[in-house]
Amino acid sequence: MRFGYFDDRKREYVISTPRTPLPWINYLGSESFFTLCSNTAGGYSFYRDARLRRLTRYRYNNSPLDQEGFRFYIKEGDTVWNPGWQPVQTELDSYCCRHGLGYTVIEGCKNDIRARQEMFVPVKDDCLLVRLTVSNEAGGAKRVSVFPYIEFCLWDAVDDSSNFQRNWSTGEVEVKGSAIYHKTEYRERRDHYAVFWSGREPDGFDTSRDAFIGVYGSPARPEAVFGSGCTSSTAHGWQPVAAQQFDLDLDPGEDVSILFGLGYIENPQDEKWEAPGIINKSRAEAMIARYADDAAFDSALAVLKADWERLLSGFSVSSGKEKLDRMVNIWNQYQCMVTFNMSRSASYFESGMGRGMGFRDSCQDLLGFVHMIPERARERILDIAATQFPDGSAYHQYQPLTKKGNLAVGSGFNDDPLWLIAGTDAYLRETGDFSILDEQVPFDNDETLSQPLSEHLRRSFRFTAEHLGPHGLPLIGRADWNDCLNLNCFSEHPGESFQTTGPNEGPVAESVFIGGMFVKYGKAWAEICRRLGRPEEASEAEKAVAAVEAAVLDAGWDGKWFRRAYDAFGNVVGGSACEEGKIFIEPQGMCVMAGIGKAGGQAEAALESVKELLDTKYGIVLQQPAYTRYRLELGEISSYPPGYKENAGIFCHNNPWIVCAEAELGHGDRAFQVYARTAPAFIEDISEIHRTEPYVYSQMIAGKDAATFGEAKNSWLTGTAAWTFLSISQAILGIKPALDGLVIDPCIPADMKGFTAVRRFRGATYRISVENPRGVQKGVKELRVNGRVVEGCLIPPAEPGSTADVVAVMG
Ligand code: BGC
Repeated sequence: MRFGYFDDRKREYVISTPRTPLPWINYLGSESFFTLCSNTAGGYSFYRDARLRRLTRYRYNNSPLDQEGFRFYIKEGDTVWNPGWQPVQTELDSYCCRHGLGYTVIEGCKNDIRARQEMFVPVKDDCLLVRLTVSNEAGGAKRVSVFPYIEFCLWDAVDDSSNFQRNWSTGEVEVKGSAIYHKTEYRERRDHYAVFWSGREPDGFDTSRDAFIGVYGSPARPEAVFGSGCTSSTAHGWQPVAAQQFDLDLDPGEDVSILFGLGYIENPQDEKWEAPGIINKSRAEAMIARYADDAAFDSALAVLKADWERLLSGFSVSSGKEKLDRMVNIWNQYQCMVTFNMSRSASYFESGMGRGMGFRDSCQDLLGFVHMIPERARERILDIAATQFPDGSAYHQYQPLTKKGNLAVGSGFNDDPLWLIAGTDAYLRETGDFSILDEQVPFDNDETLSQPLSEHLRRSFRFTAEHLGPHGLPLIGRADWNDCLNLNCFSEHPGESFQTTGPNEGPVAESVFIGGMFVKYGKAWAEICRRLGRPEEASEAEKAVAAVEAAVLDAGWDGKWFRRAYDAFGNVVGGSACEEGKIFIEPQGMCVMAGIGKAGGQAEAALESVKELLDTKYGIVLQQPAYTRYRLELGEISSYPPGYKENAGIFCHNNPWIVCAEAELGHGDRAFQVYARTAPAFIEDISEIHRTEPYVYSQMIAGKDAATFGEAKNSWLTGTAAWTFLSISQAILGIKPALDGLVIDPCIPADMKGFTAVRRFRGATYRISVENPRGVQKGVKELRVNGRVVEGCLIPPAEPGSTADVVAVMG
């Protein structure tokens, strides 16, 4: 069942009922100011960091769900409603939400009044802009009152939701004209405030939640709206809000639009005050002036749309498969931008208060983003590398605002270092810009410990090479990619972190998965060394890689598939002799992607086993059989009920690894089958089962052991976005950036007759046409660039600014 439809021309998902199975959200903002916005206008705003600079409050586990947001109440006589239905939930005569790229438009109609709420964050500005247009579609005049409402957060979202003994005394606001300034803590250490403004003089306002909503009131029934209007309240402590009232008289057919904004302003220390106790508003007033009328609003929106047009024009495909084109050309790339910006910090499943930027997460997010804005990818790589320790290990997470490592989680996730090589390698392939390797980057954010980025990569490589266990496989530490496979932790007490309990570094527990990674990214490192003119180091690296590859094929091979790990007692994890958890997806994907066992048939066998033992109609589950009881020696993975999360859920992130692995072996039919099973546009029809947004990937879909098989959770912020983009663009469509140019080597279903694509690469544009006259799955028989035949599959970089016409004939 569907709850809307894709409008590909406008690049929007159009939601036709507010009663979606869960709030379906969008992200507004793409650099520093962000707003999460649901299909009913729920959500919240923050500046850079959802924990440390939260502008508006959100209560995640509230009931009813999704109460806070940027809401308008519309009152006509005794009828009160919202354009997006929430939170009053008055039945609307019509409703529609359009989530576009960086903007959302919600429109509701009640009793011949139409209200249209348009929202977006302008490019390169720190504010949310909102326009409400109210139209009278009745035959006679109408009088309505309109109340916009937001609730401020007292900046640090963790403190805000816990330290009430202090916080109920700190709140401060100022009101000037049609602007409400939230200045809590500005009197002391903060140099920033928030401003809510409207472009029209209001007929009333409130800044105290108690006054507007009522001490025992609720957003579904604000006392001011249902009673006799706003009371000009000033918040002194408690819970500052911004609410206003506009009384509108509308002639038949008349439209009135009012502009609103929510901005974040920083002032230099010596320019904080205009007069004692009165904040300096000049920057805020300049911001308000920038968006003073409809023309300014429209042109800022046009700039945003043009920006997305340009971003997406770097990669597009025309395949004759509508759902595929829509995923590749629009939604998958859009999600890659969002994951690049958010890492795993703020969504409707990530509170913004817990995880900040993940080291491995952000490195992987780069894989799907680097082609869009390589300069931002460059900056991110340097930020991530600065959280690495001198021995090559790394902080597992860091805060986006401070860029400092998160001490509470610390390090010890032994796959982390290698992901830095993966992310940097992707950047080098995309740009050819080796100068990044010379950038001086601190270790542990300590400038005195700065070294060139290439030294960071060397230490990443060495960390793994020097932390091998009894079988010559990499030691796992606290966990590898699978955060929940905690082989050295032994957590027995509720409330403890599964990951940070117990010894950091066990000398025994090993990961076959990291072995696969080491082979894949170790080879990339060796190649980088060679390019840097260090052939000896390159051969040394290749020797270390070969040794681990041999160990994977020996102790890591189970007969029909790759094992997952060895636990702290030296027992196999993910082998046929195990009682549960006999086979895991991760090492099958990673080892085959690394090319391990290609020659000896193990790669083929491993993928056969995946098909036979892990496939389901909704995707490939992470392992089988699911763990039915808690196993101290395995940790969090066995804490989940069977079928959920890492305990045999369909972890979407590693499905594309299988896509890439299948393509590595030339299996185009199977690669596409795996791709399509989890691709959102392909499963839009089962939205009532899937429940999360049908335009983006979720981290996890409940597996076949779960009671809710097929139900997704943790939408938006998942490495699935980057990996699926990589799997479809590079493995299936076969357009792969390489150090020496662009490789064209598709691996497609036999019945696909070809496709065309446009790829921007190092400043040149490639118009690519792939023909598959013989219905093969892989293999380019002839490659022509601007009419000239090119040997092999590699096209050397074209002149920046030029256009190259590429024809690849498969056969
Ligand atoms: C984390 C990843 C991890 C994955 C598998 C995600 O929630 O963000 O870092 O690799 O789970 O455990």
